[in-house]
Amino acid sequence: MSRKTIGLPGPLYRYLLDNSLREPEGLQSLRAETATRPDARMQTAPEQGQFMAMLVRLTGAVNALEIGVYTGYSAACVALALPPEGRLTAIDADPETSATALRHWRELGVADKIDLHVGDATAELDRLLAAGAPDRFDFAFIDADKVNYPGYFERCLTLVRPGGLICIDNVLWSGRVADPAHDDPSTRAIRAFNKALHTDERVDISLVPIADGLTLARRK
Ligand SMILES: C[S@@+](CC[C@H](N)C(=O)[O-])C[C@H]1O[C@@H](n2cnc3c(N)ncnc32)[C@H](O)[C@@H]1O
Repeated sequence: MSRKTIGLPGPLYRYLLDNSLREPEGLQSLRAETATRPDARMQTAPEQGQFMAMLVRLTGAVNALEIGVYTGYSAACVALALPPEGRLTAIDADPETSATALRHWRELGVADKIDLHVGDATAELDRLLAAGAPDRFDFAFIDADKVNYPGYFERCLTLVRPGGLICIDNVLWSGRVADPAHDDPSTRAIRAFNKALHTDERVDISLVPIADGLTLARRK
């Protein structure tokens, strides 16, 4: 996992940030606080957050879904980009990081746009499906435990409307996907997921090498 775009030499990455990152003060303080945590590598990179905000605006998304919130950085980027009537349904199993996310969302003025579900993502997605949410979302972001990516993706394919966008994070997995020396369950899961998606005719795809790799899948 990486908090910066992999494969870029340090000075070029710094240049990219210095010359393109537009990060509101509230997002800067969220990122600064998160950086003090031992698990800070989990946080979405700022250039990816800005890219996802661009995707939300380009697609005109109103209803968005996020699986894997952590301290709330990507959710805040998405919520800030949604129109005033827009809503983000966000799911995470960890109550402690969810509380941090909520505190920052309040400071950023986006808490009212975000419906946070604290619980296991598969169960929460099944609850949304049972509550009649198929085709409800315009945009989804998958960024939780890697071994469950296939299940999250299948559920998102029903929850996201035709023409809607599903973004899947960490698909390059710090380069481990292409390194045979790595054979742990998460690496194997991402390899298998990428392979299956390559020939999945239900979606148009593009694997964007930003941050730790972000695949865009547009439901046909
Ligand atoms: C990589 S972090 C998400 C980063 C976040 N998108 C951001 O912008 O910083 C992954 C998150 O997935 C959550 N998670 C892992 N397994 C989960 C599960 N089975 N159900 C719900 N959340 C889960 C973890 O608690 C963690 O907060």
